[in-house]
Amino acid sequence: MPRVPPRISAFINQKGGVGKTTTTVNIGAAIASLGRKVLLIDLDPQAHLSLHLGVDGASIGQTVYDLLLDPEARTEDCIVKVRANLDILPSTVDLAAAEMELANTPDRNNILKRRFDEVRDRYEFVLLDCPPSLGLLTLNALCLAGEVIVPMQAHFLAMQGLSKLLETVKLVSQGLNPSLKVGGVVLCMHETLSTHSKEVVAELDQFFEESVGSGLPWEHAKVLRPAIRRNIKLAEAPSFGQTIFDYAEWCPGAIDYRTLAERFVRDWDRAHGVDSGAALAAEVAESTKNIAAENERATEAAPIAAPIAVGLTEQKPTSAKAPKSERAPKHAPEVSASIPIDAPRSAPHELSSATLSVEPKHVRRGV
Ligand SMILES: Nc1ncnc2c1ncn2[C@@H]1O[C@H](COP(=O)(O)OP(=O)(O)OP(=O)(O)O)[C@@H](O)[C@H]1O
Ligand SMILES: [Mg+2]
Repeated sequence: MPRVPPRISAFINQKGGVGKTTTTVNIGAAIASLGRKVLLIDLDPQAHLSLHLGVDGASIGQTVYDLLLDPEARTEDCIVKVRANLDILPSTVDLAAAEMELANTPDRNNILKRRFDEVRDRYEFVLLDCPPSLGLLTLNALCLAGEVIVPMQAHFLAMQGLSKLLETVKLVSQGLNPSLKVGGVVLCMHETLSTHSKEVVAELDQFFEESVGSGLPWEHAKVLRPAIRRNIKLAEAPSFGQTIFDYAEWCPGAIDYRTLAERFVRDWDRAHGVDSGAALAAEVAESTKNIAAENERATEAAPIAAPIAVGLTEQKPTSAKAPKSERAPKHAPEVSASIPIDAPRSAPHELSSATLSVEPKHVRRGV
């Protein structure tokens, strides 16, 4: 298969608890099981992505914090192999201090991009799990990524959040990262039968259809299908440090994420002139031969997060990381909601281009 550039996708939504981490982990794992090389980057100080994959960043030598703060750190030393074809750049709670510690560093928005270049050739898909805020960590993701994927619920208020996020992407694309696009929206915890969800999805479809040819970063964006149904197995899997495919391979959540990932890969290949239909089937057959054994070895080798009573255990930096934790604030610093971009700001009237209709239906109909 001809070499195509890596698809680098930042999973972003400034709203918390919408499914960013669940989507990053499970799309990543599904792509890896297709035999494609995947790197997941945990940019959230909550370290949920790392914990979801059973990786305890605090017991690992180096994490994404070191990569951002320590010029001596080598990118490959911060990466952990967790499954066949699936690597992770983990995080810890220390990362909360990075925003403050980098405040006076020149070109601080591009650090991750520069460091990633050391390993760029090794990966076909890079998925970044971002924190629920639009601070420096998210900005580093936006500078590295080629696209933003927005996990969200098909709810009325979520549309307003999307509208603001699109504006942010537009600002970044006007300065820091001109090649940044919006890949689309993943509907998480989707209630297929609800009338409200159907209305919101129709609204989103229409918005993206009308954006085609606009020249805006979301002109090729779409609602990615299938939507991910609400499925409790997806909420249970992280407590075992497992992906949904390890935990309940044929539950609705696994089926949805697998299908979504296959389309995610196929669309990228097609966009680069590769018809991956037959190739994908061959890859699946080939990789499934060895993947179980390799996964077993990788799981044994990876540092496993201590009892995954994650929600009950306060995460503390280890003693080995004492110098950093001394610098870390007692509480995670407030992360600015407005983005510190050194980019030209659009005139207010231009911002309307990203304004999704968020009027309630009855208002628009004049009822
Ligand atoms: N389709 C789903 N069905 C049921 N539960 C889900 C589904 N998707 C995610 N969850 C659960 O919802 C919660 C929030 O999901 P997740 O952690 O992925 O969101 P997030 O956007 O990454 O949150 P944060 O903003 O805090 O990083 C988690 O407990 C997760 O297990
Ligand atoms: Mg998360």
